[in-house]
Amino acid sequence: MSNDIPALPCYLNGEFSNVRDAKVSVLDRGFIFGDGVYEVVPAYEGRPFRFEEHMARLDRSLAELRIANPMDRAGWRELVDQLIAAYAKYAGKKPEETNQLVYLQVSRGVAMRDHVMPPDIAPTVFAMVNRLYIYTPEERSRGVDCYTADDFRWKKAHIKSISLVAAVLARQVSADQGGNETIMFRDGWLSEAAASNVWVVKDGMVLGPPKDNLVLEGIRYGLLEELCGRAGVPFELRRVAREEVLGADEILLTSATKEILPCTRLDGRPVGNGRAGPIYEKLFAGYQQAKRSS
Ligand SMILES: Cc1ncc(COP(=O)(O)O)c(C=O)c1O
Repeated sequence: MSNDIPALPCYLNGEFSNVRDAKVSVLDRGFIFGDGVYEVVPAYEGRPFRFEEHMARLDRSLAELRIANPMDRAGWRELVDQLIAAYAKYAGKKPEETNQLVYLQVSRGVAMRDHVMPPDIAPTVFAMVNRLYIYTPEERSRGVDCYTADDFRWKKAHIKSISLVAAVLARQVSADQGGNETIMFRDGWLSEAAASNVWVVKDGMVLGPPKDNLVLEGIRYGLLEELCGRAGVPFELRRVAREEVLGADEILLTSATKEILPCTRLDGRPVGNGRAGPIYEKLFAGYQQAKRSS
């Protein structure tokens, strides 16, 4: 184990400990096959953001893998609240003085190695928590550099699966070039980025790929549509061609960790004028408002 891993609070199958000490079986199907799902829930000032939407997506992912949800909503909520309190204690702060990311994972459980799903094994429930980095206003207006790649992932990208090696390889395409995200295309059409959804702004309108099996429906899919509605910005989900991305006025990335973040350079060339654009500014202001009223 790397020495720089901090003793962040975690939970494993009913017990609270920390990520340095918690241990799972080598036969856990999450370890052997990546056979499990996860969620990442941001918590602003001690309050989970869009918790119900995260739980609904967890249900959908578990159903796709035919794993019964090991806990009900109230159980998950209690666990998330306990972890938020544990992190605040760890950081020597009050929960309301913190912004956190709560990671939840369910794997199929422990069994002898066999691809076939074993009946009646107890899922492994793991959860951990860390601080949520909030980008500074300067970082936000500068935006981030992205690089493009072919989407070589599988055709069940709508499942928030822990089998993430394709996403790791995709992300590394941009990391190797000093970039922050990899924007991917399947057969010339925009899908998403390695760990975020991607939006194109053209002539004042926000465009995003349809919700299908080729993208993960980020919690910010619905949120961005709401924010566009409130800001009077036209919003459309439809297939977006590679040329439209390359010719965009603005490109936006969304995820729990990035919130809404402008991509201001793509493959080394400026997007629009190379700074955060006006639609980004409007939508980000709406996002801040949504956080405050959550
Ligand atoms: C592949 C992929 N797409 C999209 C997203 C954005 O989802 P969310 O907004 O729920 O964080 C993520 C987040 O991790 C992701 O991994």
